[in-house]
Amino acid sequence: MKRRNFLVAGALGTAGVAFFGAKSLYSYDVFEEERKFIVPPLYEGEIKDGKRVFNLNLQKGEMEFFKGLKTETIGINAPFLGPTLRAKKDEFIKVNIKNSLGYDSTIHWHGFELPAKMDGGPHQIIKNEAIWSPEFVIKNRASMLWYHSHLLHQTGAQVYKGLAGLFIIDEDESTSVNLPSEYGVDDIPIVLQDRNFNNDGSFRYVSSMPEKMMGIHGNYVLVNGVIAPTLKAKKRLIRFRILNGSNARYYLLGFSDHRKFKLVGSDGGLLEKPVSLNQIKLAPAQRVDIVVDMSDGKDVALKSYKGALKQSRGMMGMMMGGMGFDMEFDLLKVESKGAKSSSAEVPSDLAKHPVWDPKIAVGVRNITLQMRMGMGMMSGDGGDDNFFINGKSMDMNRIDAIAKKDTFEIWKVMNKSPMSHPLHIHNTQFKILSINGRQPYPGEAGFVDTVNVDPMGIAYIMVPFRYYSDSKVPYMFHCHILEHEDGGMMGQLLVV
Ligand code: C2O
Ligand code: CU
Ligand code: CU
Repeated sequence: MKRRNFLVAGALGTAGVAFFGAKSLYSYDVFEEERKFIVPPLYEGEIKDGKRVFNLNLQKGEMEFFKGLKTETIGINAPFLGPTLRAKKDEFIKVNIKNSLGYDSTIHWHGFELPAKMDGGPHQIIKNEAIWSPEFVIKNRASMLWYHSHLLHQTGAQVYKGLAGLFIIDEDESTSVNLPSEYGVDDIPIVLQDRNFNNDGSFRYVSSMPEKMMGIHGNYVLVNGVIAPTLKAKKRLIRFRILNGSNARYYLLGFSDHRKFKLVGSDGGLLEKPVSLNQIKLAPAQRVDIVVDMSDGKDVALKSYKGALKQSRGMMGMMMGGMGFDMEFDLLKVESKGAKSSSAEVPSDLAKHPVWDPKIAVGVRNITLQMRMGMGMMSGDGGDDNFFINGKSMDMNRIDAIAKKDTFEIWKVMNKSPMSHPLHIHNTQFKILSINGRQPYPGEAGFVDTVNVDPMGIAYIMVPFRYYSDSKVPYMFHCHILEHEDGGMMGQLLVV
């Protein structure tokens, strides 16, 4: 085993030079060329027969991320990415999704508590030219969730090309709090996605063994589809709702002048109280809701700092550091010269959370995350069996876990590998009880649908299963590094 790993390290050394030559993510002033910040279009659907109806088209497109270079993409009602859908808690929504891609796809509602049949996972394939129309009542609290492709073994490739969008849920709790809330004005959604490009402008997806192993890491970061844009702030108090929509990259977000911001929400909505921070880590699929004060009129950059990735000791740590996976780079410039004063504020109490006593959980479920290291990965045997949950790779015909509706379970998530894994569970917003041997920080105490577990770390989470059951159709739980998900680190959960 030792010797095999050593051989791989040797091979990777070479690959590292070949594939990660441009390892300095912006070794120049990326803001020199000014690019406009784009707000994803808001789409609120229309009310028909008491339902809020959305019409989506999965389509092919073309973008110009670099002047004069065309990039083939896919998107939803747009060439790249999709509109921000918006609806209220307790509303009945229906989404007609037409697939015009020329190949199969799916659309999954990430973070929603919803019937398994409507979930849009690998079992709800939308064939080319077909229309799929999931409908369900929105049960989630006010929050920013998202939607994306979830086709078996193809999630990484399809999301990378552009099949993702945001979904904002409102409710009275969120509107009674006087947070900045004008979409695109002082309530600004951000989708972060890193991408690699070939010289002709086309996207370059996974092409090497280390990329399969560590997930694809791009040399450019798109902010709502634009490389390092400049946002001209309209208000002095700005709320950013940020999704890490990257396949594999972690971010340690902060501002260039280290100014503090207030964390007001996580994946599943508002925290009980705001938390003052100057940096926050965001693993793939996670969201944060932050409010920053720009009343000094200065220009600042939102950046990602070094330290986003917990380095494991030994080979993996060396590889990941050496390949530029953990660097400091700029994401977005915010100019606030012309910003107007704001009547919004961050109250000291944001929301009430129910108290979940771990004693009411029905049991502890062990989840181990593992990956194959060494020569096994180089054999190129389809790349779909190198990642495991409880020793098994994803199988559409196997149920891995059965939970009972209206119960809580404690999941003990053990990472037995040298990489961090963000574990995501469908159809639930859970709470972290402990993580990597410590209590969750106040900023981690909210509702989440994804928990990051560091190398050899353990997370205890308290997971509710509510509202829906189905004895046949499973939900997924998986690592949200999409190359790991596609590589088998996914299991199937029935809620009965
Ligand atoms: Cu973001 Cu299984 O999904
Ligand atoms: Cu999901
Ligand atoms: Cu993983």
